[in-house]
Amino acid sequence: MLNRATVYPWPKRRSEWSERVGRQLESGKLSIYDRSGVVAEFEDAWSAAQGTPYSLVTNSGTAALHSAFYGIGLGPGDEVLCPAYTFFATAAPVFQLGALPVLVDCLPDGSFDTEAASALVTRRTKAIVITHMWGLPCDMDAVVAFAEKYGLDLIEDCSHAHGATYRGRPVGTFGAAAAWSMQTQKLIAAGEGGVMTTRSREVYDRAQLLGHFNKRAMKEMDPEGPLYAYSVTGLGLKYRAHPLGIAFAVGQVAELASWVKGKQDFAEEIARLFSRIEGITPLTLSTSERISAHYALLLEVDPDRVQGGRDWLVKACNAEGLEDIDVPKATSPLHTLHLFQNPISPVTTYDGSCIRAGFPVADRLAARTFKISVPCAPAGFEQEDAQYLAAVKAVAEKVGDYASGSAGRLRAATGGLSGEAG
Ligand SMILES: Cc1ncc(COP(=O)(O)O)c(C=O)c1O
Repeated sequence: MLNRATVYPWPKRRSEWSERVGRQLESGKLSIYDRSGVVAEFEDAWSAAQGTPYSLVTNSGTAALHSAFYGIGLGPGDEVLCPAYTFFATAAPVFQLGALPVLVDCLPDGSFDTEAASALVTRRTKAIVITHMWGLPCDMDAVVAFAEKYGLDLIEDCSHAHGATYRGRPVGTFGAAAAWSMQTQKLIAAGEGGVMTTRSREVYDRAQLLGHFNKRAMKEMDPEGPLYAYSVTGLGLKYRAHPLGIAFAVGQVAELASWVKGKQDFAEEIARLFSRIEGITPLTLSTSERISAHYALLLEVDPDRVQGGRDWLVKACNAEGLEDIDVPKATSPLHTLHLFQNPISPVTTYDGSCIRAGFPVADRLAARTFKISVPCAPAGFEQEDAQYLAAVKAVAEKVGDYASGSAGRLRAATGGLSGEAG
């Protein structure tokens, strides 16, 4: 039996990052009003990493998405095509603007299905938001072609996909704006935080106005722009990030590319360990064009081949001490959530519905998949990551033995086990 509660330890706590937090604290600058200090440093580093001129740090990914949606000019009466298979914050900020998210089913790997979306375009559709689920980039050729065909603004929710690339190009650079969460579990972790990027000065100005009033907005917004007169007050929200969180995150940006690279082998290895169990299929491995950031690896369990199906498998892994394996609960398909079944908004009432189609693929993923963290072996933490992988291996092998009913089938497939079999 492994130690109870084996979970992948994240975020790592490199001493330089903690020292940076300490220095920020000592400086007394615990609120940054304008674009300066560690916030400006983070934004500059993020813009450089993305090749995007404008970055806006916020206090959450949700705030970054809200700022992006306001940035592109959404308002009451507008519709936004949103994935049904995502975390609800991808779509929920749309309600705050009085626009309506219209849910779209996904492809079998959880990414955005442009064909399903085509059937849902109406004259009210103004934008599309996609999520690179679990870190795997969507098929951006198809997504961009779809957005262009219907004249829609594209927003990318990259909250799972820091550092992921599609055909060598970073995700987050394909549309009108993009947003990342920096909540503690995310690949760039500030504890709580977010960041939005855009190439458009106009989108940047509007996005700032939503939650970054006064000193920042007054200095940053175009004084000739139509909304400049609101810069003192903004629009009534405050989305500034806490400098201590950003101080913790800022040093992580330079490491991102090597972490994503490091994750590729670990993801392959974990996929291989579980694929030896008949009926388990990894869904979100990278391809030559789509390099996943592997926020997590998603695997599907065929209930016809694994007795007890996904729920049995997760329970068995948890019982063996691998608590990292779980069923995403907050990331339930959005059509199962009350907010999307009975949409309300603080600024309007709706006569339309978010649910205008079936979601068989999202339902299937919700019923059959589990996720597991993927290590990235940051320098200095290799041993910690190797221990985690060893724990995953031991449990996958043992549970594989149970799943096969007897040790025989698995042994035959793998050429022998390490003697762990129960
Ligand atoms: C896909 C996705 N979008 C948006 C968010 C919202 O980010 P935050 O929690 O930082 O508001 C999350 C957070 O888990 C997420 O997973």
